[in-house]
Order: sequence, then C-alpha cells, then structure tokens
Amino acid sequence: MRVSFAGLELVSPIIAASGTFGYGIEFEEIVSLERIGGFVTKGISMEPMAGNAPPRIIQTASGMLNAIGLQNVGVQDFLERKLPPLRRYPRCQVIVNVFGYTVGEYLSVIQRLNQVEGIAAYELNVSCPNVHAGGMAFGADPGSLEYLVRRAKIASTRPLIVKLSPNVTSVAHMAKVAKGAGADAVSLVNTFLAMSIDSQTRRPRLSNITGGLSGPAIKPIALRMVYETARSVNIPILGMGGIITPEDAVEFMLAGATAVQVGTASYADPRASERLARGLESWCRSNQVERVASLTGALELPRT
Ligand SMILES: Cc1cc2nc3c(=O)[nH]c(=O)nc-3n(C[C@H](O)[C@H](O)[C@H](O)COP(=O)(O)O)c2cc1C
Repeated sequence: MRVSFAGLELVSPIIAASGTFGYGIEFEEIVSLERIGGFVTKGISMEPMAGNAPPRIIQTASGMLNAIGLQNVGVQDFLERKLPPLRRYPRCQVIVNVFGYTVGEYLSVIQRLNQVEGIAAYELNVSCPNVHAGGMAFGADPGSLEYLVRRAKIASTRPLIVKLSPNVTSVAHMAKVAKGAGADAVSLVNTFLAMSIDSQTRRPRLSNITGGLSGPAIKPIALRMVYETARSVNIPILGMGGIITPEDAVEFMLAGATAVQVGTASYADPRASERLARGLESWCRSNQVERVASLTGALELPRT
C-alpha cells in the first residue's frame, strides 16, 4: 500500500483532507493515525482567526456547502499545543495547510513552521473560496499564483504542494504555472463556489451568502480535472473531491493521482479515512493489484 509522493513515503495513499480532520490529534482515539498515509491540517495563518459567523455549514443534495472562513488557532498555538503530541505517530505524515492574506503572511507562516521538526510538507492554500482576500485571489490569477509559489518555494525547507481551485477556466493551466514556479506537487480540488437559498425566508442559508461545495456532488468534475491535469503536467497530484468509497479512490488514481484526500466523508463518518485505507487494501487484494502505486495513471482509454 506504500506510495512515494513528492519525497514523502506514505504507508497508504489515503490522506485526510484539510478542514475536515482538525489538527489531526483530535482524531487519535477515533482513527488509527498510522493506518492512513497522513493528514492535512486546517489552514494555518500567522494569527488566530475566528472564521465567519454561523450558519456556516449546510447540507445539500449529495454534498455539503461550507463557509467556515479559515477559523484556526494560528501558527504559534499550533506549534505549541497541536503538533508535539503528534510525534507519537511517526508513520503518519503531517502536512500543514498554509494560508495568508498577503504574500508576506504566507512566507511568515512557512518560515515559522520551518523551525520545527515533525512536519512532512506544506500545502499552500491558494484556493479558499470563503475569505474576501488572500486564498482564491492568488489561485485564480496566473501571475499572482506564479509570484506566490516562487517566493514560497524559496522560503520553504520542505516539499511544497500547491492546492488549486476548481473555480478557474483551466486547472491544468494553473498546475503548469505552479510547477513552473517551483511547486513539488499539486492538490486538487478545493471546493466549488456555490450558494443555497431558503425559499420561505428568501434569505441565503449561509451568513457568508456563498460557500464552497464539496462531497459526492463534485466527484465527477474533480475527477475530470485530475485527469486533465495529469495529462498536461508532469507533477505528482493529490486528488480529491467526493471520495467516499475505496472505488472512488481507485478512480482518482487511475485518472492520474499518486495519492488522494478524503474530506467531507469524515463529517458523515469520522472513521472514513481509516475505513478507506483498509477498504483500498481489500480492493487491491480482491483485484490482484500487487502494488497500489501501479494504479496511478493506469486509465485505459478507448482506441481512436
Ligand atoms: C468544512 C470544510 C473546511 C475546509 N477547510 C479547508 C481549509 O482550511 N483549507 C483547504 O485547503 N481546504 C479546506 N477544505 C476543502 C477540502 O480540504 C477539500 O479540498 C474539499 O472539501 C473537497 O474534498 P471532499 O469532497 O472530499 O470534501 C475544507 C472543506 C470543508 C468541507
């Protein structure tokens, strides 16, 4: 079940996604942290952030709409209280999702994180649809993306994964830009900009008015984006978007992902990541797949 991803050795290609797995340590009694490849922390900013006012999570048909707005404890508290207990799980790779309102803030967070042990890689969040500055503002404009990634790569002592937004015309093009600026890998996709309205009250259901759609509703689109990106850029991909079953994970790998992330599924079943890691192993056994890594990009295309 091992896979190598951007210099990281993962015991399984299943990784818990940012914003759906806290800071990891909250899950230690729910999930066997050493059975999953790792997890990505909630987006960490220089200062603590309270996020948006409630309501900020709404259930939708086959999905979930959120406008959390990057609530987090800030880098200092993360390093002092959240990271140290994770050293009990050395096989579980800790990927820190980094967020800033300005290029300088992204770099400050990275420089602070560089000073400690126990972090495997950084995931640069340039795709949050729920904040009014930073985030998606960088991920939606090729020039801003290129500048941020170039600076972040210079600042970083660890592999740099760039998390891309699906809210652009071509994710594959943004992946090319990220690679050109020095990204070691890309994650895709973040949530899709969306909204929900209550017809009775005539009001938006989220206080932020719009939010990000995730879960099974987005899976076919996310899969297409991973497929297109894998065909146009030679860079490892962490695929995600609506993965619920082991077969979903296999589909993302066939489309070109080296490993996958599981997000919304953990809201329905907090054990989802471990269930998927075990389920993928069983799937490989039942389908005579000796090495899960052999699935990456193994999609059979119709002959033309
Ligand atoms: C409640 C919630 C909070 C999220 N917070 C973050 C975040 O802080 N940073 C980030 O890069 N992505 C964040 N995401 C996006 C997920 O990591 C993932 O990209 C997206 O939900 C698609 O995967 P899924 O359909 O498996 O949930 C969040 C998603 C949800 C549902």
